[in-house]
Amino acid sequence: MRLEGQIAIVTGAGQGIGRAIAKTLAGEGAAVVVNDIDLDKASKVADEIKAQGGKALPIKADVSKRDEVNNLVKETLASFQKVDILVNNAGIAKLTPSLELDEEQWDSTIDTNLKGQFLCSQAVARHMVEQKRGKIINITSLAAHTGTPGLLAYSASKGGVVQLTKVLAVEWGKHNITVNAVSPGLTITELVKSVFKERPDVFEGVERIPLKRPATPEDIANAVLFLASPESDYISGQVIAVDGGALSVHPRMVRPLD
Ligand SMILES: NC(=O)c1ccc[n+]([C@@H]2O[C@H](COP(=O)([O-])OP(=O)(O)OC[C@H]3O[C@@H](n4cnc5c(N)ncnc54)[C@H](O)[C@@H]3O)[C@@H](O)[C@H]2O)c1
Repeated sequence: MRLEGQIAIVTGAGQGIGRAIAKTLAGEGAAVVVNDIDLDKASKVADEIKAQGGKALPIKADVSKRDEVNNLVKETLASFQKVDILVNNAGIAKLTPSLELDEEQWDSTIDTNLKGQFLCSQAVARHMVEQKRGKIINITSLAAHTGTPGLLAYSASKGGVVQLTKVLAVEWGKHNITVNAVSPGLTITELVKSVFKERPDVFEGVERIPLKRPATPEDIANAVLFLASPESDYISGQVIAVDGGALSVHPRMVRPLD
């Protein structure tokens, strides 16, 4: 029970990677605020946690809306009096050729994936500064480090998350707040199934991943758990890729020597 007595907010935790993160943190003793824009999904995950003997509270909020984010933090503090861990996980993606990308899709992607992380981090950090302690973990993507065709707004938002992580780590270090990011590789979730439904080649590309499989949501959650636990207290401003080695593959030499 590495997180006994800790309070965590996980955004976009109604399914996929966020759900796995919420369940993993709860499994280590944290009381978890399960946030999602969809309350039914959040409530279901909170019920799963409680059925396993954990503590969870579902709270609906759209992370791209300042009022809703402020309310998320207010309700968390009303129920638990503090927040120790924030996991900025909520994110959306849609595959669109850049020449066809309209302003609406650009704005909604940047607002959810990047502005949402800023709003949640700022609202939670105001409290963490007072308690002189906190851990913020941002979910970015391999799309932040590579050129992924059809994911312009998504990639720009996730590249922004990397810089947001570094700036906040530097500014808030003096308050004993660590800010790190986890960069998942291909992880089979509803998001990935819908984004790449017309691009089966993306799944065939799994052969190029050194570990020869996509990530599970739990693989990502385990890295988040490390960054949320005391073992990582002196790590800040880092981006950890959880990608089965994919980022290390040479662009042309994809097969091992044997
Ligand atoms: N699945 C992957 O391969 C992969 C790879 C790299 C990064 N990621 C990132 O991991 C995170 C989770 O992805 P996933 O695959 O589990 O996606 P998912 O679509 O399965 O789950 C995302 C959840 O976020 C919620 N959400 C969406 N917009 C929201 C908003 N404005 N406010 C609050 N909640 C909102 C959705 O309702 C959903 O429950 C995202 O940030 C995504 O970009 C995923």
